Amino acid sequence: MPIIVCKNQLVFKLSTDNWDYCFRCNDYGLLEHVCSSAAVPDTAETLLQTLAPDKMMPFTAYPKERDMLSNGSPGVLLQEYGTFNAGDFRIPALKVRSSDGTSTVRLRWHSCQCYAGTPVLENLPCARSVENDDCETLEIKLTDPEIGLAVYLSYTVFPHCDIIVRGARIVNESSSLLTVERAMSMQLDLAPGNYDMIQLPGAWGRERHAERHALHHGIQSINSNRGLSSHAANPALVLAERTATETQGCVYGVMLAYSGNFLGEVEVSEMDSVRIVMGINPELFSWPLTPGSSFTTPQAIIARSEQGLGGMSRQLHRFFRRHWLPEKWATAKRPLLINNWEATYFDINEEKLLNIARSAAQVGVEMLVLDDGWFGKRNNDLSSLGDWYVNENKIPNLEALVRRVNELGMKFGLWFEPEMVSEDSDLYRSHPDWVLRIPNRSYSLSRHQLVLDMGRDEVVENIFQQMKNILSRANIEYIKWDANRIITECCSGALPPERQGEAAHRFVLGVYKLHARLLQEFPDLLIEGCSGGGGRFDAGILYYAPQIWCSDLSDAADRVRIQLGTSLFYPCACMGAHVSSCPNLQNLRITPLATRGNIAMSGTFGYEMDLKELSDGERQQIAGQIAMFHRLNPLVQNGDLYRLSNICSNNHIDSWCIVSPDRQKGFLTVFRKNTDLNQPPVRIRLQGLEPDAVYQIDNRTLSGKALMNIGLTFELEQGDAVSRIIEFAVV
Ligand code: DGJ
Repeated sequence: MPIIVCKNQLVFKLSTDNWDYCFRCNDYGLLEHVCSSAAVPDTAETLLQTLAPDKMMPFTAYPKERDMLSNGSPGVLLQEYGTFNAGDFRIPALKVRSSDGTSTVRLRWHSCQCYAGTPVLENLPCARSVENDDCETLEIKLTDPEIGLAVYLSYTVFPHCDIIVRGARIVNESSSLLTVERAMSMQLDLAPGNYDMIQLPGAWGRERHAERHALHHGIQSINSNRGLSSHAANPALVLAERTATETQGCVYGVMLAYSGNFLGEVEVSEMDSVRIVMGINPELFSWPLTPGSSFTTPQAIIARSEQGLGGMSRQLHRFFRRHWLPEKWATAKRPLLINNWEATYFDINEEKLLNIARSAAQVGVEMLVLDDGWFGKRNNDLSSLGDWYVNENKIPNLEALVRRVNELGMKFGLWFEPEMVSEDSDLYRSHPDWVLRIPNRSYSLSRHQLVLDMGRDEVVENIFQQMKNILSRANIEYIKWDANRIITECCSGALPPERQGEAAHRFVLGVYKLHARLLQEFPDLLIEGCSGGGGRFDAGILYYAPQIWCSDLSDAADRVRIQLGTSLFYPCACMGAHVSSCPNLQNLRITPLATRGNIAMSGTFGYEMDLKELSDGERQQIAGQIAMFHRLNPLVQNGDLYRLSNICSNNHIDSWCIVSPDRQKGFLTVFRKNTDLNQPPVRIRLQGLEPDAVYQIDNRTLSGKALMNIGLTFELEQGDAVSRIIEFAVV
């Protein structure tokens, strides 16, 4: 049983295959964390003995009515959901303003219920239960009767992925207004220990570069206040024991399934305990609750592994495949695509597109994606976002174009930027009030565009109808959903002044609503997320779009760092990765075609160039890459990733291998960024193999044990940005 509730003592033990998480309701009704550890045989009641002896610490506060002899100081106890200004001075999970003007909350035990399966959230991404996953949910109700507040904390246990998904619902049970000022999706309090934090900071073109640093006393945080999860930070962090590596040691991975403003904070307290909270960023958020109404937080996904960062990543990847990504695509092979963007930018016409499609079809590419510039009167980025009708000067007949592409044996995909509008557009001219902007005040532009107020149903409906018109006209099987600016001066014309704190969150809900409506109308549609490259690479988007364009930097040599950082949390099969032209159009690097193919091979794979401009030799090389894609893509989709180099440092050589779930086959990728003379041969120790099986690898026959303990030695050719893919299989 994943959840054991010991009713008479109110102790709860949540168990996955390798993780026990225990908490209790203490004598004065506070939800107190007991322990989180590798699986132990002890019962929930027995685990109470692991609690530190009760002790009132000097200079701490305690509730007046409390029995001085029982339980320690609330500000020192490990808790499940700390609240603001009632004796716990660490970062709170919850802050609610009541009609008396204060934001103090004191939550106490009320009741609990347990059920098989997962909670269903309306209009928010939520984890799915599948057959035989034994998943169970515990819901705890806490209340603050003095202000009439109820909080439902939910814990869904996915035993075979070693994952617990958390969330909270805040309900106003009073007869006056309550305002939620901060409602985190999760809190995890850990006993004192030496921990490092790993996060994925970045910027446009260098997204998700993993960074590791030691925790210090006080608060360290990651956040976005840009309306989107952003290039600059990712809503995910790792807490790793100081000695934990890729292969061993205890690590926690915490992810927020949310695509807007987020905050993740880690605090080392005065007593050295560690608190992690993650949720919607309170900076641009407040949510008034009228009597009887409620607010639901997005879900947080928490993984724990004793097998280091690699173990944690594989757990999360498995969880995404089984319980999160759109079911139709979660484990399915995605079409190998060619995208015209870097080949043409805005300068498109039907003939150019057909030429790109023809030369791609000849080598076996499976889908043409028509990127930006096909609609309104868009010839550059100054106009037309919001006008989702075909520019007939460029594409006289969309149906015919799609048909001709289909006749080449290829699918057809189309680019949209649904949440955005250009000032120079029919949509903006007819509805200037549909954008997020403070009326009668100056405002910011970014890429010459504005952001639609997706919190308004009429806006979502308008964009949905426009997209539906296009998608039902022709056989369009994929869309690339872009979002090329961040949100500033966030203010909704549909909300009164006292409710402006809702605008940013309502925007995200509208984005999810539009995704859901499109998928309801076109259930087979494949959506690829994008945001000026990888500015919105998060679990929220992955719930609707199983792949996301990783970065606008398409150079393979720099992509290695981006893709490895991303893989800390997200599966390889979710990373949009293409082979682009050379020299690279963004950083001008000359990266060999072989390396461009080898690095994209560990993503969704595709091309972003005009193949007919290549030499015959290069086209032949591409035919070879495509044959390799067909062999290796099932491994990328469903295999286990083992990173073999340290993702938090700049390495001379980077390498990783992907192994089939049955360990019978896989492939190793090795990459060296800078040439280096007079080096010894490369020696790589593989991971994830069957120790006693014998593998055929690089014209050698070696046992799994030998490959993992001694390693494989080989030469890498001279030159910058060289790489090799080495396939292996059990003989
Ligand atoms: C940004 C994307 O990341 C690019 O791939 C491309 O689609 C452009 N937008 C189009 O404007």
